[in-house]
Amino acid sequence: MPMTTPDAAAIAAGAAALAAGRLVAFPTETVYGLGASALDPVAVAGIFAAKGRPTDHPLICHLASADDLAPLVAAITPDAAALADAFWPGPLTLVMHRSAVVPDAVTGGRDTVAVRVPAHPLALALIGAFGGPVAAPSANRFGRPSPTRAQDVLDELGDAVAVVIDGGPCEIGIESTVLDLTTEPPQVLRPGRISADQLAHVLRRAVAAEASGPARAPGMLESHYAPGARVEVLGDIDAAMARARDIAEDGGRAGLIAPGAGDTDNAVTVLAAPTSPDDYAARLYAAFRRADAQGVDVILAVPPPAEGIGVAVRDRLARAAAGR
Ligand code: TXA
Ligand code: MG
Repeated sequence: MPMTTPDAAAIAAGAAALAAGRLVAFPTETVYGLGASALDPVAVAGIFAAKGRPTDHPLICHLASADDLAPLVAAITPDAAALADAFWPGPLTLVMHRSAVVPDAVTGGRDTVAVRVPAHPLALALIGAFGGPVAAPSANRFGRPSPTRAQDVLDELGDAVAVVIDGGPCEIGIESTVLDLTTEPPQVLRPGRISADQLAHVLRRAVAAEASGPARAPGMLESHYAPGARVEVLGDIDAAMARARDIAEDGGRAGLIAPGAGDTDNAVTVLAAPTSPDDYAARLYAAFRRADAQGVDVILAVPPPAEGIGVAVRDRLARAAAGR
């Protein structure tokens, strides 16, 4: 995709801001990231301040190419090389033993670092123009859903960000798969578009699917990814509509996210009617935000089947439903 003039200007402004130690929000194929120079601990501290995120929650280092990986890690293992070759640029984050170059501010003091090469032309252009690794979490306030549109970032982080690069809506819509390569077997810490089966196929051996429970990965709280409205997960549309009528009778307002939603009655606000698991992922966080904007009290979600990206969508729904 060739860069238009406004894009080129935004990239130049973004790279200059990163070099000056400031924060730049940029699109990736998954969600928008809030970036800072990964090798500048003061700039990285600004990310935690802007998000309101606890400083022991580690960040992902974004690279323009797998060729830039070597300085950040202790060693490029055969597993890492095979996965990078198969999936980068793409929605896969690898947790590896780190080198001394990576500041503690990025890793939360761990001896591991998370790295990925995003598959978005504007992200790659920004990182390339800056010329170094860019530490970036999702560009949301701590505990909120990840942003999938530039406007979401402006609404939530506004003044804290020097430049917001607008790449339109994110294609995938939920965060990258996180794979820990420092354990045996390698373990999925966060499910995403790339499944455990796909990873195992490339590695030619078993991969542990993500463990359930609160303490799998640092910063992966059960209550993450949550909108302001309460989220309830229902088995099918009929159950969701029955629940919606109860909520309406009690004077509340229900919103619905369900495959095939549409021919429903006025007891419910349809927030999204995804046509496939991929479409579900792409629409999920915007639907959460729409619920909050429209004053919905309870989001009723009928999950996609647990196949492909559906596994990751169900993970995010369960987290959004927990702890409120
Ligand atoms: O798709 C994505 O991954 C997006 C885009 C912007 O790249 N980024 C993102 O970042 O979701 P964040 O900070 O919201 O999530 C990073 C995840 C967290 O679950 C964190 O615990 C895990 O990666 N992580 C980072 N460094 C780690 C480490 N050293 N060990 C284990 N997990 C780590
Ligand atoms: Mg996040």
